[in-house]
Amino acid sequence: MKLVFATNNNNKIKEVQSLIPSHITLLSLEDIKCFEDIPETQPTIEGNALQKANYVKDNYGFDCFADDTGLEVEALNGAPGVFSARFAGPQRNAKDNMVKLLEDLGKSTNRTANFKTVIALSLQNKMETFTGICNGEITKTQHGNSGFGYDPIFRPNGLQETFAEMSLKQKNTIGHRGKAVSLLVEYLNTL
Ligand code: IMP
Repeated sequence: MKLVFATNNNNKIKEVQSLIPSHITLLSLEDIKCFEDIPETQPTIEGNALQKANYVKDNYGFDCFADDTGLEVEALNGAPGVFSARFAGPQRNAKDNMVKLLEDLGKSTNRTANFKTVIALSLQNKMETFTGICNGEITKTQHGNSGFGYDPIFRPNGLQETFAEMSLKQKNTIGHRGKAVSLLVEYLNTL
């Protein structure tokens, strides 16, 4: 069975491929010659994941899964959420995004936040979603150099380090994306 993972990140593909049954072959967007930007215009993280999976199904005819992630900050009423990538503007710059988030939060004592990943799977004309959440808090300053995006200012609950101060393996074990991928893999292993 062929299944498209709507990404061009070959590392992500290799990682998931190693976890699922060998009769399922993962294809990237490049493999199916999808080179255009897939629209992500929905108002929710879940909506964007569904939109991307549906786009591949409708335009290329492949079964597909797609992921979408956002950081939701309680004191900002869930922002940046679906706008996480372009919070500080269309340049989609991680440093600018972090600076804006820390400025918007100011001296707020409520630093509660969570990362949420939704994976939407369109398989044999049925849609399933898998959600992974990592609860934590926004630090007052940036810590660490690993990872990407908001990692230097997000500290998961119960830990002393931000995501940017831990190994990728540790982040994947406790992180939002790792949890959503585990649920997807569990499902694919039942097929
Ligand atoms: P995407 O849906 O995976 O492209 O994520 C959207 C945006 O959320 C990214 O551009 C990052 O700003 C942010 N983001 C997603 N996942 C993470 C993460 O694991 N750590 C930090 N930031 C993330």
